[in-house]
Amino acid sequence: PGLRPIRSPRGIPVLGHTPHIPSTNPVAYFGELSRQFPEGIFSMDIAGQENVFVYDPDLVTEICDETRFGKPILPPLSHVRDYAGAGLFTAHDDEEAWGMAHRVLLPAFSQRAMKRYFGQMLEIAQNLVGKWEREQGQLVNVTDDYTRLTLDTIALSGFGHRFDSFRDEELHPFLTALLQALVESMRRSQELPMMTKLRKSDDRTYRENIRLMRELVEAVIKERRQGTSGGEDDLLGLMLAAVDPDTGRPLADDNVRDQVLTFLIAGHETTSGLLSFATYSLLRNPQVLAQAYAEVDRMLPGDTVPDYDTITKLDVIPRVLEETLRLWAPIPQIMKAPLQDTLIGGHYHLKQGTKTNLLMFPLHTHPKAWERPLEFDIDRWLPDNRAQHHPHAYKPFGNGRRACIGRQFALTEARLALALVLQKFKFSDVTDYRMDVREALTRKPGDFEVVVRPRHERE
Ligand code: HEM
Repeated sequence: PGLRPIRSPRGIPVLGHTPHIPSTNPVAYFGELSRQFPEGIFSMDIAGQENVFVYDPDLVTEICDETRFGKPILPPLSHVRDYAGAGLFTAHDDEEAWGMAHRVLLPAFSQRAMKRYFGQMLEIAQNLVGKWEREQGQLVNVTDDYTRLTLDTIALSGFGHRFDSFRDEELHPFLTALLQALVESMRRSQELPMMTKLRKSDDRTYRENIRLMRELVEAVIKERRQGTSGGEDDLLGLMLAAVDPDTGRPLADDNVRDQVLTFLIAGHETTSGLLSFATYSLLRNPQVLAQAYAEVDRMLPGDTVPDYDTITKLDVIPRVLEETLRLWAPIPQIMKAPLQDTLIGGHYHLKQGTKTNLLMFPLHTHPKAWERPLEFDIDRWLPDNRAQHHPHAYKPFGNGRRACIGRQFALTEARLALALVLQKFKFSDVTDYRMDVREALTRKPGDFEVVVRPRHERE
């Protein structure tokens, strides 16, 4: 009674919707399609698999109910497992390794732990400032430099390893290998396995990239075992020493390897995207930029070196980041699946295990939940306004127990970096940059270049 079909865009017999899906920026394409389905749900057949897309805030409320929906490891995540293994991000909900690592690592992500990492976060942020001071008056690639920042930060504070990315002209080979592997994982999720098998040389490159990433990780772990890096209470220290309270066992060696790679990936890709989109949004919204400058001039006058307490007291910069995550969520979709056959919205039938994608941008701009949805308005995040928000219309860090474990880490790092950059620099958008989003599991602006100049001339 009252059952309604989940509508689909027009497909092609036998091939379904696969031929329509662009190989670049597929999630942006799903977002465009969402406008044809104001009911907030639609479905497509991709590479022989039913994909449901959901973005109505009330339907999202239902798929975020963890008694009814879990996180399935289906393509592309099942392909990411080729290199991230049973790391936290790609482990199955009921896999023992997930619970063990989650319990062992939670203390490393507490608010107190952030204070411990702060010195290292500051050191790397100052390396970024140093590079931009050397390159003042020149075009800098903002996204590449934020990628250097976030990669160096997670490697140093998580594992005591120094990438020293700001010394090199080229990005680290790890990053090239990772990007190619992520793109390949995405591509595999949009084609039949038969097609993947035919692309033999791509497969060789893929394996080569995985080998390169794993070798780097093994070297990082070896450094620690030989006692030449870092301390006992960082991520790696905990993983090597801590015993899981529930099982009484430590993490297996190959699981530690998979976690280190997972954190090197999850710990930098998204935060560099966030910082890039935030910088872009500030350039496009001069009144907000002026508020942010006023805040750093008040809280960090002159060349004051930020300390942890000052960063926790910022107000404008955190709201800039929250609004950036609404309009430019670096992870553009997450996957859920019903644990049993179920009805959502009282009308739409979903079979157990159906791949149900939550589309961030259509949710984060849904007219049911957001006024003037496309406007970059940081006042949405003032306490009184925040209290009025729909409870499930904002999910940049995911949902429930599978939500981002690194949220505080990312926000502390991004607040500090943005505060320091705004204390020191002004930007000129001399190329009149137009947003050119690049998706590779996460999304970032492509070729985003601006000229940086010091705000305060030195004597
Ligand atoms: C999970 C977003 C930064 C580590 C997630 C998920 C999202 C997310 C949406 C859930 C994915 C899913 O449901 O499949 C972000 C954003 C970040 C960020 C937007 C930055 C702005 C970080 C950082 C770290 C990190 C800095 C590590 C230091 C992880 C891990 C998971 C995760 C390990 C998997 C958690 C689990 O399933 O147990 N993140 N993340 N993330 N994130 Fe983040």
